[in-house]
Amino acid sequence: MPTAPTSGQPLPRIVVVGTGGTIAGSSAATTTKRYQAGVLGVADLLAAVPSLAEVAEIRCEQLYQIDSVEMDLPRQLDLARAVSRLAAEDDVDAVVVTHGTDTLEETAYALHLLVDTDKPVVVVGAMRPADAAGADGPGNLLAAVRVAAHPTSRGLGALVVVGEEIHSARDVRKEHTSRVDAFGSLTGPLGELAGGVPRYAHIPARRHGAATAVTLAAIDQPAAVEVLVTRAELPPQIVDAVVASGARGIVHAGPGAGNVPERVAAALDRARSAGVVVVRSSRVAWGTVARGDAFDDDGHDFVAAADLGPYKARVLLALALTITDDPARLQQIFDTH
Ligand code: SIN
Repeated sequence: MPTAPTSGQPLPRIVVVGTGGTIAGSSAATTTKRYQAGVLGVADLLAAVPSLAEVAEIRCEQLYQIDSVEMDLPRQLDLARAVSRLAAEDDVDAVVVTHGTDTLEETAYALHLLVDTDKPVVVVGAMRPADAAGADGPGNLLAAVRVAAHPTSRGLGALVVVGEEIHSARDVRKEHTSRVDAFGSLTGPLGELAGGVPRYAHIPARRHGAATAVTLAAIDQPAAVEVLVTRAELPPQIVDAVVASGARGIVHAGPGAGNVPERVAAALDRARSAGVVVVRSSRVAWGTVARGDAFDDDGHDFVAAADLGPYKARVLLALALTITDDPARLQQIFDTH
């Protein structure tokens, strides 16, 4: 791969895959809400940032043009296939994906688990539509391409770039509804851009890409998995309804360290007896749900999600259930991915 651009050297070749989102949003396109996401094509986004041409030789593909609230696992799998295909091409050095911020963390984590490449894969979005005063999309896109273009970004799995920060797809979460610095990670970003150059302070500790237990080519259909967020007085019948709907897994997001009310625990036990895998997670933004800590996971035959939030736990469980439904094996996967 060419190194980051210095004069006389060939520029890295990057493909930018468009999927929609606010980064491609426009307020001119709607009169019924503040703006419409996913209106502009990825070619328009690139044309708005002429300085990209100094960083990389870029081509683009439009895969979707959606509000990311419409993103689902089948689309995420198709995106992973597209990114894998591009990353396997000899004349592609890195792939950047533009995406809505609402479900960006789930898509980025799916790519982190499924795309087997050492080439940089960077996911980027924006909080303000492209035609807003102070739009953050152009700067974020330039930052994402700078990160993707740099050789130190290789081998880190999928990265999420927001502003000047570079996060691991595994750990990043959207943690604000409207601020431009809406994303964060429990232990901070992996690194940041300084003077347009990525500086990494950490590398991802968990498995990604070729090292994961799941293989993209072997996944026909992800398993149906529901997230249930416990609140005061959650009717346990909701658990039974989820089981009746055909779910093969339930991620329970409990308060605190993943606590489960007795009546809900009894319903989850019924689900487990019916062969449904139960993963215990937390509705709290940050922290670990440790196996056996304040809850008898062994006795209930549940899996503890560690520090994976419920929505990423759903992605991991839906993929992992395609290879095993053994809670002990699934616990190993949650402990290492
Ligand atoms: C979306 O997720 O597609 C809309 C919101 C955003 O991108 O910030």
